[in-house]
Amino acid sequence: MHTLQVDVGHTRYPIAIGAGLLRNRDWLANHIHAHDLLVVTNTVVAPLYLAALREHLAGRVAECILPDGEPYKTLQTVGWIFDALVSHKMNRDAVVLALGGGVVGDMAGFAAASYQRGIGFIQMPTTLLAQVDSSVGGKTGVNHSGGKNLIGAFYQPLAVIADTDTLATLPDRELRAGLAEVIKYGCIWDPLLFDWLDNNMGLLLARDTEALTYAISRSCEIKATVVAQDEREHHLRAILNFGHTFGHAIEAATAYTQYLHGEAVGLGMLIATDLSYRLGLIEAVTLDRVKTILVKAELPTQAPRIGAARALEWMKMDKKVLAGTVRLVLLEKLGRGVVIGHYAQDALAATLSEYF
Ligand code: NAD
Ligand code: GLY
Repeated sequence: MHTLQVDVGHTRYPIAIGAGLLRNRDWLANHIHAHDLLVVTNTVVAPLYLAALREHLAGRVAECILPDGEPYKTLQTVGWIFDALVSHKMNRDAVVLALGGGVVGDMAGFAAASYQRGIGFIQMPTTLLAQVDSSVGGKTGVNHSGGKNLIGAFYQPLAVIADTDTLATLPDRELRAGLAEVIKYGCIWDPLLFDWLDNNMGLLLARDTEALTYAISRSCEIKATVVAQDEREHHLRAILNFGHTFGHAIEAATAYTQYLHGEAVGLGMLIATDLSYRLGLIEAVTLDRVKTILVKAELPTQAPRIGAARALEWMKMDKKVLAGTVRLVLLEKLGRGVVIGHYAQDALAATLSEYF
């Protein structure tokens, strides 16, 4: 088992990564100190892991099983978590445990942040995407019909417990979507990780345990380092949104039904890299390497033909927009992301026309 720490100053918490954690009674008892637990999960994950987890948890354990899927990442669904907390008479000493992917984790975290003005929260991510990204760093929230993740709170968990065994049941498409976020860390932060991914993509797609564990640990290390320096995204943390401004536009414009979040982010990274090239920030070879690794990861490289104007409209709802300017995360070189607010509009227009 690997254990890392996230230290954001006002709080610190462990990320435990390893096989069989969900079924390790002693380990769970030592790390989950709650008299009252509400396990929040969904209709896909519950039949796979809820019984096993419940069997190994101590204390009073209640459950809340949500419908599955990004279209349900709404305030209405979070309301059902509140209903469960109230109906089980949970108080401020209760802890919400999110068992599932990023959708469950984001909603359970938001419910924990606001129920009785904040109760404890534990992330137990079961998708690759959630293990490498969404469970770490304290962003919680839901979508609004006007845009992705528009409502939410920064709220750090007490612990992140990533049982790598759960990845065995993850559909291939979801695994690939998670790889997009791992590729992201290589692009914006760690060129050696990028090279490693380039050389080991076959092992990752074949779910080699050692390769997956390395990818998860290295991703969490990078995310923890960035979040420790800028928890509330005043500056550095924005680079973790590489590919997301375009990606969120793709997801929202297609009603969260055509592309998985990771797929949209992968496409967004390609589009952001294309723009970085048009702006003269990077060489053609870098654009080529990013495109090639996305193809190796079997991620989509064709955006929906929604039109450049519509894409731009959705991009204007991005949370990085400042004084009306759409700030973008671009690449300065492979392994270094930068946030840029002033760029040639004709270059952006050319990129948008090419992809949308
Ligand atoms: P998801 O939560 O929808 O999970 C993907 C699918 O896999 C779902 O159908 C889910 O039920 C199923 N599933 C989960 N675990 C499984 C398992 N072990 N075996 C079989 N099926 C399983 O999607 P995701 O990719 O995990 O997360 C995407 C969400 O995360 C988006 O809403 C995105 O905005 C959010 N996100 C948040 C952050 C953050 O910092 N908070 C970062 C990145 C992404
Ligand atoms: N996934 C972007 C962030 O956590 O900041």
